[in-house]
Amino acid sequence: MGISILGMGRYVPEQKLKNDDFTRFIETNDEWIRTRTGITERPMAGWEPTWYMGKQASLKAIEAAGIDPSQIGLVISCTITSDFLTPSMASVIQHEIGAVNAAAFDLGAACTGFVYGVDTARRFLETDSSLKYVLVVANEALSRFLDFTDRTTCILFGDGAAAAVLERSDKLFSSALFSDGSGAKHLFARALSPAPEVAAESDFEDPIPEGPMHKLQQNGKEVYKFATQALPKAFDSAAEKIGITKDDIDWFVPHQANIRIIETAAKKLDVSMDKFIITLDHYGNTSSASIPLALSEGIEKGLIKRGQKIALIGFGAGLTYGGIILEY
Ligand code: UT7
Repeated sequence: MGISILGMGRYVPEQKLKNDDFTRFIETNDEWIRTRTGITERPMAGWEPTWYMGKQASLKAIEAAGIDPSQIGLVISCTITSDFLTPSMASVIQHEIGAVNAAAFDLGAACTGFVYGVDTARRFLETDSSLKYVLVVANEALSRFLDFTDRTTCILFGDGAAAAVLERSDKLFSSALFSDGSGAKHLFARALSPAPEVAAESDFEDPIPEGPMHKLQQNGKEVYKFATQALPKAFDSAAEKIGITKDDIDWFVPHQANIRIIETAAKKLDVSMDKFIITLDHYGNTSSASIPLALSEGIEKGLIKRGQKIALIGFGAGLTYGGIILEY
């Protein structure tokens, strides 16, 4: 059983940080950021809560799908930057959009969140015939968890949200999800201090002992190496399950972290960059929102058309990674 994307919506805050803006508070320059990452500017949420961005994207997706919010049976919010420890962003968004008949929960798989979310939605649709529509919304405000004194990390991320209304269909679908927790120490934001005796015993604790609480800390080189392996594997694993190859795919929609990671993955897959949707130049890395933002923009620009085969390939903290192949 496959799924159909009935409608998508996206929302990014108006406020932006351009590369040059960073020179006011860290030692960097536009050329370094552009050539090492491909990023030119990124939206910044400022006062806008994560749920607010998710709400705006969801309302647009619902309108595009042409359904009533009360027909949605499940809201999955993909996020690692929730406004609350509890309740979930999904419950807040459910109320805000009037999805009065929906169950709701958050899903945390970092930048692979939307891939995990769509796969989870499909499984719900497959096993619960009373469920007609699922809303998967990815909403992130990474800017609140960045250390703006760390030039290797703070220049990478942006804020935004994108959502999709899904229903079951007999269209082509395949997915492959992975996690390699041995790499958890390479990309994390700590909520609590570990007990020293636990920290001493654990492989995870304390990779960057001096790092600030709640702020994102990253070993960029390790994540880079991982990502260039993970993206091709995510695609190959999903493709193998349904016996198709890269030549059957019209569009690759990768996680938008660094243009050099995407170029390396494209080379490994032996796929032209012309088949990749790229939005990181103007959004930066928006974690779980990055793939659906790119997908939604690709659809709106008329690049992605009905009937085409799309590969969504992501990686992120966890370290998680995964791929979905579907027909739009
Ligand atoms: O979804 C989350 C996934 N995260 C990622 O995908 C991140 C993966 N990693 C990366 O994208 C890259 O590793 C970075 C963009 C984070 C760094 O690029 P790099 O080519 O690996 O640079 P580097 O860490 O090797 O640093 C090269 C130089 C260093 O200076 P020295 O030691 O050679 O003098 C850095 O200190 O560049 C310096 N540098 C900067 N210079 C200007 C690091 N950040 C900056 C900066 N501006 N913002």
